[in-house]
Amino acid sequence: MLKFEENVSLKPYNTFGIETQTKYFFKVEDAADLKSILTQAKPLPVRIFGGGSNLLLTQDFEGLSLLIANKGIHVLEENATEVTVEVQAGENWHDFVLWCLDQNYGGVENLSLIPGSVGAAPIQNIGAYGVELRSVFKSCTVLNIKTLEEASLSREECQFAYRSSVFKTTEKGTYIITSVCFTLQKPPHHTKIEYGPLKAHFKDSTPTIQEIASAVIAIRESKLPNPKILGNSGSFFKNPVIALTHFNRLKNQYPELPSYPAPEGMVKIPAAWLIDALGFKGSQYGGAGVHKNQALVLVNLGGATGNDILKLAQKIQRAVEEAFQVSLEMEVNVL
Ligand code: EPU
Repeated sequence: MLKFEENVSLKPYNTFGIETQTKYFFKVEDAADLKSILTQAKPLPVRIFGGGSNLLLTQDFEGLSLLIANKGIHVLEENATEVTVEVQAGENWHDFVLWCLDQNYGGVENLSLIPGSVGAAPIQNIGAYGVELRSVFKSCTVLNIKTLEEASLSREECQFAYRSSVFKTTEKGTYIITSVCFTLQKPPHHTKIEYGPLKAHFKDSTPTIQEIASAVIAIRESKLPNPKILGNSGSFFKNPVIALTHFNRLKNQYPELPSYPAPEGMVKIPAAWLIDALGFKGSQYGGAGVHKNQALVLVNLGGATGNDILKLAQKIQRAVEEAFQVSLEMEVNVL
């Protein structure tokens, strides 16, 4: 019998730094223990924690919280141009990026400094600066929480989309991701620097993957609050994808409204712009606030409850709906 800790604060396990309690808690350092842990836990409800960087906790939990903390990075195979690497789910994402930069393996440099764990990265198909996880993802091993069967899911089976995957849609709550395999490039690297701020930074030069990572880190540090200093979970909402006719109407009214490509007949617009245009940036509601440098980031100014943040998020959703007829979907998982 493994021993579960009791009545544990979840404050250290969510980057918003919100205080809630879990009835039972276990830190999983070896994925091989998971089957016996889940058998022992029945019939308690079980919740999985990775880096806790995409969560908003609004109440205490009467079940078992599992912190996935298995570690290890191994090269599975390689040829002259590529390498396949298996990374255990509990590795910190940015530590994995640093390891890749050290080995001179390309593909994840644009995803530098994203908070969270490797096992959580496929769930929302993390993305930044023109690159998404799916471009380097090969497969992942999972454990089915109910049947306790292990499986390997391919990129196709994960059904990645913008900030989404099968783990957020049809199979929400079905699996625990225990490791992820990536296909990375050996030099010469096919770098991506077309995204606005990177293009402006590098102009016509051809940066190395290490230089791209440094630029991404500098840009992120200038705009996004460090969760260790100011609790937050990155972008709180997804960037909405709206119909072209709707976009044209808004663009007429607000000629400065930026836009990004989206599937045929649709346009993606920055939620941050909409929120900023309504004057929310830097505003404060109790312990919750809108970050002063990035309107898409909600922050815990100190002592906020999950409900303070949620109320602020709903206020923003209502204002954006009213002013622009656009529904903002939360990117963060509200529990
Ligand atoms: N903008 C404003 N006001 C602001 C911030 C931004 O008007 O306060 C406008 C600007 O016009 C800017 C545009 O919004 O050009 C886009 O802003 P930014 O480049 O900062 O990116 P974003 O669309 O707000 C997305 C991701 C981020 C990712 C960046 C860079 C989503 C939901 N968010 O943000 O991801 O780092 O692009 O690629 O897609 C995350 O998911 O947690 C995250 C931080």
